[in-house]
Amino acid sequence: MVRTLGRSDAAHEILEELPEWFGIDRFTHEYVDAAARFPNYVAVAEPESREPGTSPADAATPPSSRADGGAIPADDVLGVLLLDQRYPTSAEVHLLAVRRKHHRAGIGRTLMARVEDDLRAQGVRLLSVKTLGPSAYDPGFDQTRAFYSACGFHPVEEFPDLWADEPCLLMVKAL
Ligand SMILES: CC(C)(COP(=O)(O)OP(=O)(O)OC[C@H]1O[C@@H](n2cnc3c(N)ncnc32)[C@H](O)[C@@H]1OP(=O)(O)O)[C@@H](O)C(=O)NCCC(=O)NCCS
Repeated sequence: MVRTLGRSDAAHEILEELPEWFGIDRFTHEYVDAAARFPNYVAVAEPESREPGTSPADAATPPSSRADGGAIPADDVLGVLLLDQRYPTSAEVHLLAVRRKHHRAGIGRTLMARVEDDLRAQGVRLLSVKTLGPSAYDPGFDQTRAFYSACGFHPVEEFPDLWADEPCLLMVKAL
């Protein structure tokens, strides 16, 4: 897990792999722009899990101890979480996405745990996320909500009109 800035390249690659969740160009561009502005937490492939034939920028240094997350090849980024902190005591998960072939391997949970540790250390008390609400039929987002529930988030309210075309569910977790 690496905390870095400006990994729009990695965010873009991962979102393109997940059209069921991020199939609308307008939103993908918004997230890619956000990756340039918000703190990025990225899950990085350890050497043994890299694709054969790919060469890391600095194979001698474990990814987790590289100071400059910007130097990690986008291919080595397995998942990304963008954090939006507007107030001193609360923060929002703006984007979380894991490469499809690495789903259900604990990467999402581990990214979340790292973010939560950092936020607690700063005195942040509440973490929120907005996701597609259950009144829209979408099996992919049923799984997404199951993930957030497993991470300790609670549904608060579904807002039918906050987003242009889809219901938005606010979920929160006390840190
Ligand atoms: C949602 C997402 C980030 C979860 O990341 P992940 O690395 O696959 O999830 P983890 O392996 O850390 O799962 C942690 C727990 O969440 C729950 N969970 C995760 N995926 C689930 C699924 N498909 N169905 C039901 N529960 C699930 C489980 O309880 C799981 O623990 P377990 O595997 O020990 O049972 C990832 O699947 C993803 O990128 N999905 C598409 C994009 C997306 O939905 N992003 C969020 C948009 S708001």
